[in-house]
Amino acid sequence: MKETLEKIHASALEAIEKIQSTADIEEVKNTYLSRKSELNNIKKNLKDMSNEDKRIVGSMSNMITKDIEEKLNEKFQFFYQKELNEKLEKESIDVTLPGSYTPFGKVHPLTQTVDEIVEIFQGMGFSLVHNENSPEVETEYFNFDMLNIPQDHPARDMQDTFYTKVAPNVILRSQTSGAQVHEMLSSKPPIRVIAPGRVYRCESVSARKNNLFHQIEGLLVDKDITFADLKGVMNEFLRLYFGSARPTRFRSSFFPFTEPSAEIDVQCIMCQGKGCRVCSGTGWLEILGSGMVDPNVLKGVGIDPEVYTGFAFGMGVERLAMLKWGIDDIRLFFNNDTRFLKQF
Ligand code: DAH
Repeated sequence: MKETLEKIHASALEAIEKIQSTADIEEVKNTYLSRKSELNNIKKNLKDMSNEDKRIVGSMSNMITKDIEEKLNEKFQFFYQKELNEKLEKESIDVTLPGSYTPFGKVHPLTQTVDEIVEIFQGMGFSLVHNENSPEVETEYFNFDMLNIPQDHPARDMQDTFYTKVAPNVILRSQTSGAQVHEMLSSKPPIRVIAPGRVYRCESVSARKNNLFHQIEGLLVDKDITFADLKGVMNEFLRLYFGSARPTRFRSSFFPFTEPSAEIDVQCIMCQGKGCRVCSGTGWLEILGSGMVDPNVLKGVGIDPEVYTGFAFGMGVERLAMLKWGIDDIRLFFNNDTRFLKQF
């Protein structure tokens, strides 16, 4: 038995000497130390031996096991480090290579347009209305009645919108003009605000019309405000937005909440006034609605029209963006096709 153990020991030491990798270590471990190994077999049979043999064979096989374990451990330290170094060397990182990156997103062209217009008006002393004064879910009262558009007024037909079942008369606003009423009810003149936001119309979608679009409302109420102030502010806005003084014209119009009212046209950006498809041959493009706040509207919110006057305006954000960038279909803004969006 002693000889067998010595032979096992010698053969194990020989195998350990030949080790060249951590994989070899596993193999040697398997051959000499596993449960199926010869050494373990001997240990298992100890119980059938005489006490004398038990003592000798037991301590000898333990000593051999310990020796093999220690030597394998030394080998492992060595080869593990060696293999790790080789691996690190092979996989070394070239810090001069360009990194992988996530492309930056962009601000949506409509948001860019709103930001730009808001900034222009802020430069002229207007401030943004608070959100609670510009709700998208409105009542007919603020969207129509308080703007001098009574129940059976034909102007309601021109702005058919979406009715909710939340409560009678709760609608999605058809215009941002309701913000004027909220603002005048919650603050006293002088008032100088703009209110950008979404509006809704119940109409069939086309290249020029969408159920949802954006407007920017403006309101200025103070003492001694005249139509000349309205003209001055509008012309300055158009000059800053389109980048140069463009011919504009104020065309008399009608809005129930302003008197007098005017629509402002700007000379066609595409044909410089010669007449083309975009301007339907007229040479002019309609940009916004405006006017002097109707005395009825002022009275409705408790502002004395004998003391205060004001002007208001409302413009379509999509229209202004389309004109500036030469975009010919409003639906492009809402399709979220990055091939379109990344151009702005
Ligand atoms: N709310 C009008 C519309 O949607 C636009 C408008 C016209 C707003 C004249 C105004 C204004 O504030 O004074 O057609």
